[in-house]
Amino acid sequence: MMPVVLVHGGAGTVPEYRQAPNLAATRAAAESAWLLLQSGRSALDVVEHAVKMMEDNPLFNAGVGSHLNEVGEIEQDAMIMDGSMLNSGGVTCVKNIANPIHLARLVMNKTGHVLLSESGAHKFAHAMGIPTVPTAQLITEYRKNLWEKRRGQANPAVPDEGSKGTVGAVAIDRNGNVASATSTGGQNYKMIGRVGDVPCIGSGGYADNELGAVSSTGDGEAIMKVVLARLMLFHMEQGKEPFEAADLALQHLVRRTGGTAGLIAVTPKGEWTAHCVSEHMVWAGATQGQRYYGLKRGDKYVQEVDE
Ligand code: GLY
Repeated sequence: MMPVVLVHGGAGTVPEYRQAPNLAATRAAAESAWLLLQSGRSALDVVEHAVKMMEDNPLFNAGVGSHLNEVGEIEQDAMIMDGSMLNSGGVTCVKNIANPIHLARLVMNKTGHVLLSESGAHKFAHAMGIPTVPTAQLITEYRKNLWEKRRGQANPAVPDEGSKGTVGAVAIDRNGNVASATSTGGQNYKMIGRVGDVPCIGSGGYADNELGAVSSTGDGEAIMKVVLARLMLFHMEQGKEPFEAADLALQHLVRRTGGTAGLIAVTPKGEWTAHCVSEHMVWAGATQGQRYYGLKRGDKYVQEVDE
């Protein structure tokens, strides 16, 4: 089995001045994840690592740099899924946690549940010895300015245009196990308690060794309405190739919801795709001897490397 890892840093419209840094950070996460995968670590470890790296980077809307809700607080969502047994863990509306993806993995590993929310997730984090961080440590000037801008608008509940900056990763390891991980701060000025697609199994991500692993990004409510990640895998179950399956799922989302989104996916055979219907989706990937990346819809740059 040829291992593959892909990561994304969100779908939407990335402002020009953020394009180069976002792409560089996404490629760095893919490269670091690849080194782990190549050393024999599991797909699950690799996707958690990639997403954690992006949560730690203030450029992305996850971990530090998350969007603020209507009262200026952070509420983060994350989900991880292991394709070998269909095990999954998620958290929603967590506030003072630096790496929600790690907490999601603990939900998967240490509880009999799939998703923990807000106070229950915080109580569980405390029991697992995960330290809380002051909210101020997770809030960036960039997100604060976007929030201030929305606060002055007549109908601030309408979602922002522009990049959502959600992060995600998918991988297949040398044993043929696939995994998916996704993390987000959600939308700017969202209502308190709003749950997006990311922690909802089948919407923000899915992983099944028989079909593949997918991570979604884009308009959360639109993604949830069509259960986007599982919809793509449904098309693969019907015999479609990964790109066509992603395209069918994304076109359905556009036609039925008017929203926008992007997907990254790997298959049990080591095929992969990165596809979006938004103007941009920053993504990067790696297989033995090759690196891939893209930013604008339809981009696919390939770089040969000696290793
Ligand atoms: N797709 C991220 C969100 O809408 O929450």
